[in-house]
Amino acid sequence: MRVLVTGGTGFIGSHTVVSLIEGGHEPVIVDNLANSQPSVLDRVASITGVAPEMHRADIRDLEAMTAIASRGFDACIHFAALKAVGESVEEPLLYYDNNVAGTVTLLMALEAAGVESIVFSSSATVYGDPDSLPMTEEMPLGSATNPYGWTKITMERVLADLQAARSGWSVSLLRYFNPVGAHPSGQLGEDPSGVPNNLMPYVARVAAGRLPKVEVFGGDYPTPDGTGVRDYVHVVDLAEGHIAALDRHHGDPGVHVYNLGTGRGHSVLEVIKAYEEESGRPIPYEIVDRRPGDVAASWAAVNKAERELSWKARRDLHEMCADSWRWEQARR
Ligand SMILES: NC(=O)c1ccc[n+]([C@@H]2O[C@H](COP(=O)([O-])OP(=O)(O)OC[C@H]3O[C@@H](n4cnc5c(N)ncnc54)[C@H](O)[C@@H]3O)[C@@H](O)[C@H]2O)c1
Repeated sequence: MRVLVTGGTGFIGSHTVVSLIEGGHEPVIVDNLANSQPSVLDRVASITGVAPEMHRADIRDLEAMTAIASRGFDACIHFAALKAVGESVEEPLLYYDNNVAGTVTLLMALEAAGVESIVFSSSATVYGDPDSLPMTEEMPLGSATNPYGWTKITMERVLADLQAARSGWSVSLLRYFNPVGAHPSGQLGEDPSGVPNNLMPYVARVAAGRLPKVEVFGGDYPTPDGTGVRDYVHVVDLAEGHIAALDRHHGDPGVHVYNLGTGRGHSVLEVIKAYEEESGRPIPYEIVDRRPGDVAASWAAVNKAERELSWKARRDLHEMCADSWRWEQARR
């Protein structure tokens, strides 16, 4: 399939571009490089032997998107979004414009071009703080604790409403749990600018001696060791989940919702310990106050993706830490 990949030079997008090429598909990237580097294209080429086509454009630009979408695509995988939770609280209009208005504009361009198959990057954040675990796809959507979360809930709604009105569309909503790790080649990974918001990139910088210690937000949660529990999923597993959804649901009208996670939670202290083991470096930490908006624990029910997509995360926490550390070291 020829697949338009928005946000394809980003963290998850770049790994998915590699998986698409390895799966015999032809990805074409659209990215405005708001949070990624064009050098990703050379790295993808060095891993796969194929240099993907890329268009530098903003998904909010209807004219540009209409021109690109008309170049003959079977499907779109839509990653392009801003994702910093804290920034979304400070700049809500930017987030609604980029994520929600950008998605609407992209969908207009796809519709004009007759592309009716989309795989969308959603998030476990749409479940809010549920009453029970694991989180299943049937659970009602929760109340987001920040504008970023609301943009994901709203974009899911936009896509479901579009599918209800245009019954030929195939919409796959993939709800990611906590994507971490890096490509095992050490050539692709996550490189947040400034101080990382997410645990593993933060831990990586402490292991590398670039930050003094990990601040662990909350040590009194009702979890086995008191620290927050999350379902970490290796980015290469996640990338493969997109190919599975595309292969399964292309030409299959409807709204198809899947959790992508491992189905098992790890605490912050377990992550720190695994990272210490894989890096061989001490990782000092300090337990501080809880962070507003964080839930105590979150992990996915994964049987639906296993059953319907024949997809299962295969890489464990140690592999996630080892690949993250290889990427961290390769860049220094
Ligand atoms: N990383 C996570 O923890 C996580 C968890 C759940 C969901 N998601 C979602 O997955 C998707 C990919 O996330 P990621 O971690 O790879 O982020 P990322 O920032 O690395 O990638 C997003 C890419 O989209 C591009 N982009 C942003 N706005 C754009 C616009 N208006 N026009 C064109 N390109 C634009 C950025 O330049 C970047 O390359 C996002 O939709 C994100 O919300 C991420």
